[in-house]
Parts: sequence; C-alpha cells; structure tokens
Amino acid sequence: MWRSAGFCAGASLARLAVRRAAATVTVTPAEGLADRPAEIQVRGLPPGQEVTLRTLATDEQGSLFDACAHYRADAGGAVDVGAEASLGGDFVGREPMGLFWSLSPAAMEQPHRRLEPRSAEAALEVEVFVHRGFSGPGEIPGQVLAKARAERRFTLPGIRKVRLKEGPVRGSLFLPAGNGPFPGVIDMFGDEGGLIEFRSSLLATHGFAALALPYFNFEDLPQVMGDFHLEYFEQAARFLLRHPKVKGSGIGAVGTGKGAELASSMVTFLPEVVAAVCISGCSSITASALHYGEMTLPGLRFNMSRVSISENGVFDLYEALEDPMDPANSHCRIPVEKADGHFLFVVGEDDRYWKSSLYADIAIGCLRKHGKDNFRLLHYSGAGHRINPSFSPVCLIALDRILGVPILGGGESKAHAHAQEHSWGKILEFLHFHLR
Ligand SMILES: *[C@@H]1O[C@H](CO)[C@@H](O)[C@H](O)[C@H]1NC(C)=O
Repeated sequence: MWRSAGFCAGASLARLAVRRAAATVTVTPAEGLADRPAEIQVRGLPPGQEVTLRTLATDEQGSLFDACAHYRADAGGAVDVGAEASLGGDFVGREPMGLFWSLSPAAMEQPHRRLEPRSAEAALEVEVFVHRGFSGPGEIPGQVLAKARAERRFTLPGIRKVRLKEGPVRGSLFLPAGNGPFPGVIDMFGDEGGLIEFRSSLLATHGFAALALPYFNFEDLPQVMGDFHLEYFEQAARFLLRHPKVKGSGIGAVGTGKGAELASSMVTFLPEVVAAVCISGCSSITASALHYGEMTLPGLRFNMSRVSISENGVFDLYEALEDPMDPANSHCRIPVEKADGHFLFVVGEDDRYWKSSLYADIAIGCLRKHGKDNFRLLHYSGAGHRINPSFSPVCLIALDRILGVPILGGGESKAHAHAQEHSWGKILEFLHFHLR
C-alpha cells in the first residue's frame, strides 16, 4: 500500500533506506595469511553510534567460534579497529587483531575446543558483523548494520606440499615457490600426536622448506606414544638436508610441548640440526624414554595423584611432573651442553600445563655452567602453554585430544596473544639468522 503514497513520502522513505544501508565494514586484506595483520574498518555509521563488532568462524568439524568487541563510532561515523579501543566484549583496549585471536567456541558449542586447522589447504572463513548497540559474549546481538567476509589462509599459491613416505618417516613437506635452496626446518607438536600442518605451511610462506613431522598416531606410525628413537628424527633430518631444494649447511627444529623436548634432543645429538626453537618444553625427557643407539634417557614420570581437578572439571597438571632437579632424576636430563647449535627457548610464565619457565631456566643454567652462550630466552608474563603463531585463536583451557578432558594451559588472553605475536617474529628471525 505504501507504494501508492505520495511522492514525498516515498522519496523520504527511500532516503531513509539509503542512509540505513550506508554502513559498510571492510577487512583489508579480505584474503590474507593467518599470521599477518588485517584491518577492520566500519564507515557510514551515525556519529557516536555504539556498535558491537562480531566475528564468526566455522572449523573443519563444523563447530562455530565467535568473538565480539564494543566500539563507538567517531564524529565521522567511522570505527577503525586498528586505532580505537574496544570498550567491552571479549577484550578491552586497542587490539587491532583482537577479533581474530579471541575467537572461541560459540555459546551453544562444546567449550574448550581449539580453533586450529589440522590441514593447511583450507582457509578459515571469518564473517564480520556490525551490530547496533552493545551486546556481550553469548547475548543476542542487535540489528546487523553491515557485514563482510574475510579469509585467513595458511598457504600461498605456489607453495607445494609433498606427502612423505621416506623409509619410516611420515609427514608433509612444504616447499616455497621457486628453485631455492631454502633453509630447512622440522616442525613438531606435542603429545596429541598426528600430523599438524598449519605452522609448517606458514613457515613456507616465510621462505622455509618446512617438514611437519608426526611421530605417532598417523598412518603406519605407532598408534600411541611409546619410547622414542632419535633415529627416526635423524632420518627425517637427513632426508630434509639431502633434499635438492634445501640449503645444505644444517637445518632447524621447532617444537611445542613434547615437540620442544625432541627439538632440544635433536640439536643436542644430531649434527644435522643447528638451531632449535623450544616452545613451552621441558629440560628433561618426559613420560617415554628416548633411545639413540646404545644411549637411553628415561622419561621423567608424571605423578597422577598430583593432578588437581577444579570444580568445573578442569584438570590442572602443574604439579604432576616429577622434579627434574631431583638428583634421582638426573639421568632424564637432555645434556644440552653437548649441542654445537643454537637454542631459542620460548616460554609463558603462566604456563600451567607444566613449569616450562623453570625448565628453560634449568636448561640455560646447564649451558651457562659449561660456559656456553648459544641460547636466547623469550619469556612472557601472562602467557600460558600453547604459544602459536601470531593471531592464532587463544585457548587457555584446551580439550586434551587423547583424554578428552579440559586441561588448564594457563595465562590470560591478551598477554598470551601479545606473546604469540612477539615470539613468532623472533622465531622467524632466529631461524633465518642461523640457517642463512
Ligand atoms: C606421588 O605424589 C604423592 C603426593 O605428593 C606422593 O605421596 C607419592 O609418593 C608420589 N608417588 C611417587 C611414585 O612418587
């Protein structure tokens, strides 16, 4: 009926509609690498308009993750997330990438799931909504004023992925475009096992030939974590070093958690490995023994009666690992002083998974005692266990993939996100420098 109303009424309605539709949100770049910054800008809002910016993403299993933050448009009706402070929501203050690193399981989803891709090919699709008014996490948001889509990618066109079956060695090798040769890096994660590719793929976008190396729970590798044989990692290192696209002067190893122990053992015992990045690791072998030829380093044991469980069912393992400084456990220690290569220790001072900050100090103490200065330490107050590349969604309590229970990783979101951003830059710098 309103169509037949007078010309003036129709025109003002149309004008109103135009003004309403004028708000836009842009993400720049709309398609970018997951560890590189992106800018979110809103334009065309009424001056001073309060809005909630909300990001929404779906993981490979179809679970929803979201994040939100509150902003007030300036006199020109604009919000620049890179320049303005969030006034509430999942974070406050100026956090240009907060809407990415604070993505966490949506209200209806199982909590404590980690938003971390297993494979490198799929991009993370993120929808960005601008809602009228302030609404908190889990609340019903206001009317949508604008929306946009962004893709966060883990690979670049031209990067080649090669599935590996070299003797017993399994994994995925990521090669940058071009002839190379490129600095080679072996990349390992922790006791969840399996093949985790995203960090290797990102390393390839930074010019490394990176091998994502699983060591159990993948293809014909052992199903569960048993004793380790360093020969497996030696074969992987030799394969990488022999590869025609890899620089022949020595490779690097990057590891998180259990993977840090392995990286540390590799630079200690294997001449092929000249630089190790040990993220949130231990100074001793833990849980399962490490064998290398005639040598055995037994694993430091976990005492499960020292695991505490909070009221909401979160497991705290902080006190569970036996004391590596106890003389009875000295034979578990990785003799890092034997290494000719270089160490970069990365730890969060609020790691509650285990005492990685103390363990880094123990390793550094051993190096110093032997007059060595082949190490750097990056330690971050407020950061927890899983220190991933820049802008990775922060997950301070994560479901253990094996036990299926939530385990406290520790830390505080903002400090943890800042640690991720700072350490990733330093890790790339360290690897480029020592593998040049
Ligand atoms: C495990 O921890 C408990 C509690 O601290 C202690 O009583 C027990 O002796 C420990 N067990 C071993 C094998 O060390």
